[in-house]
Amino acid sequence: TRVLVLNGPNLGRLGLREPEVYGSQTLADLAEMCRETGRGLGLSVDVRQTDDESEMVRWIHEAIDGKTPVVLNPAAFTHYSYALRDAIAQRTAPLIEVHISNPHAREEFRHTSVVAAVSTGTIAGFGLMSYRLALHAIAELTTAAS
Ligand code: DQA
Repeated sequence: TRVLVLNGPNLGRLGLREPEVYGSQTLADLAEMCRETGRGLGLSVDVRQTDDESEMVRWIHEAIDGKTPVVLNPAAFTHYSYALRDAIAQRTAPLIEVHISNPHAREEFRHTSVVAAVSTGTIAGFGLMSYRLALHAIAELTTAAS
């Protein structure tokens, strides 16, 4: 099974960006960890990052058209992008919302997710492990479905 791991704005700066919140590992480290986890689960993992809302919406459309499961860290789009929410609402395959930090333990504006209600579920607060847990969930969900 192919899986898209999509990352939103500022996640290209992992390792440099607020390391006390997001840790010292880079996006390249995250991508390698996801691909390796995928290999162990029989998943072919494609990791991408964009700062551009329209590109992210296009990737969601691509996933929907291919019925491809998604692990999505929408980053700041989480909190306000109705365009992303409306794209995700069209899905038929699993989509798991992930966050490195626990947004509920942070500023008030991070307590709202406009994508949570159209996602299969949310995994937040486990650092990069959030992605690993999400890939395990995708593996179980796609096995159960076939
Ligand atoms: C984040 C949490 C968001 O609030 C923030 O805007 C991000 C990263 C996380 O992974 O913890 O950019 O999605």
